[in-house]
Amino acid sequence: MKDGDLLGQAKAVLERNDNGNWTQAALDMYPNQWFWDSCFIAIGLSHYKPERAIRELRSICAGQWDNGMIPNEVFHHDHQSGSRLWRSEVSPQAPPTIKTSGITQPPLLAEAVWRIGERLTAPKRNKLFEEFYPKLVAYHTWLYTERNPHHEGLVVLLHPWETGTDDTPPWITELHTHWTPFWISLIGAVHADKLIDLIRQDLQSASIEQRMSTMDALRLYNIVVRMRRKKYQTNLILKHGLFAIEDLFFNSILIRNNQILEEIAKTIRRQLPRELHVQMTRAALALDDLWDEQSEQYYSQNFVTDEKLRVPTIAALMPLYSRAITHERAKKLVHLLKNRKEFWTTYPVPSVPLSSTHFREIHYWSGPVWLNTNWLLADGLRHYGYDDIAQSITTSSLALVEKSGFREYFSPLDGSGAGATNFSWTAALIIDMLAHNEPAAVLEAKK
Ligand code: GLC
Repeated sequence: MKDGDLLGQAKAVLERNDNGNWTQAALDMYPNQWFWDSCFIAIGLSHYKPERAIRELRSICAGQWDNGMIPNEVFHHDHQSGSRLWRSEVSPQAPPTIKTSGITQPPLLAEAVWRIGERLTAPKRNKLFEEFYPKLVAYHTWLYTERNPHHEGLVVLLHPWETGTDDTPPWITELHTHWTPFWISLIGAVHADKLIDLIRQDLQSASIEQRMSTMDALRLYNIVVRMRRKKYQTNLILKHGLFAIEDLFFNSILIRNNQILEEIAKTIRRQLPRELHVQMTRAALALDDLWDEQSEQYYSQNFVTDEKLRVPTIAALMPLYSRAITHERAKKLVHLLKNRKEFWTTYPVPSVPLSSTHFREIHYWSGPVWLNTNWLLADGLRHYGYDDIAQSITTSSLALVEKSGFREYFSPLDGSGAGATNFSWTAALIIDMLAHNEPAAVLEAKK
């Protein structure tokens, strides 16, 4: 397929999923607006419809809470699935006129605002930055106050959905060591989960081996219910022993977005609030606490016990995107990435390394390749001077979509597609990748 055809098809996917001011993540499986999805979607749209890209971000920010939190889901219509589960109205901090979830997702807003800004004239860019600066400051401040109770610089997450990598093995492993309520155990004991499988919306368009088990999904719903009882107040949730993790993936993304927020502030000649600036500086250093000398890898950490969750996933490579690690460490991560027994599969980069006992070829966040993680890694690799590896990842991402369409995720072994079809962020990031794609000949000439 020619690049032009792929571009046209990617735009058509976004067109189909467009709701005017916001984009559905995927028509068949995720009818709502999601936070980090919208950031990726805006990055794609910025190439040809920058005004529409700005509206995408405005509509997700319409759900921003009074305390600064940006929720992972915004429900633009009351009847949307999920709004009854979350019941955001239980919190006085939630917006009064729009329903949302009560948790957040990887903080890529600064990245999205910056990328749109790059495509605008200076006056328009400054206007955009002025508009989003207060929202960004409020959001990052919330993360570094409410979600950083010990002021150590690493933000704590309270639900696996906040990582964006919903059933990533370290979180699910922790979840299994956690208390399971009686009613869920009972459902498992009488195999009633098989009946629930029959009515699950996601299983209407994907097979169970591609999706989270119903038992795990129920455990995740149960955490929401318990958080809702505490009105989504972090201090109360932490006091009642719900599980809490300093997540490597999320903190790496946040650290990079702190840097971009600083750039945005500089561009419009603003001074970040002092305390926020202190926390942001601390965060970049605190990432080092997640390094494990023995295995020479980064891991997430249990917030309560300080124990590292030594279950490797793609998060191990995400400090490359943070830009906060030394070149020496980056080299170690690149070595890990290029290991054919770990992450360098036929189609890189799998969400869980091949050598892991948790690896499952087409199972959600337990093995498949996702285009957003490829995009984040390619960005980090370019920063550390590994342009050729970044380009291989981009070329392979394009090949995956040419082979299997705009799927949610792909097998790292044979490139077959899985999960949702016509997935918005896959389409959006293909648009961005095509814009930066360097044909082999150009790369050769640059050497
Ligand atoms: C899945 C992904 C999550 C994404 C959502 C909507 O749940 O795990 O990261 O935001 O779908 O696309």
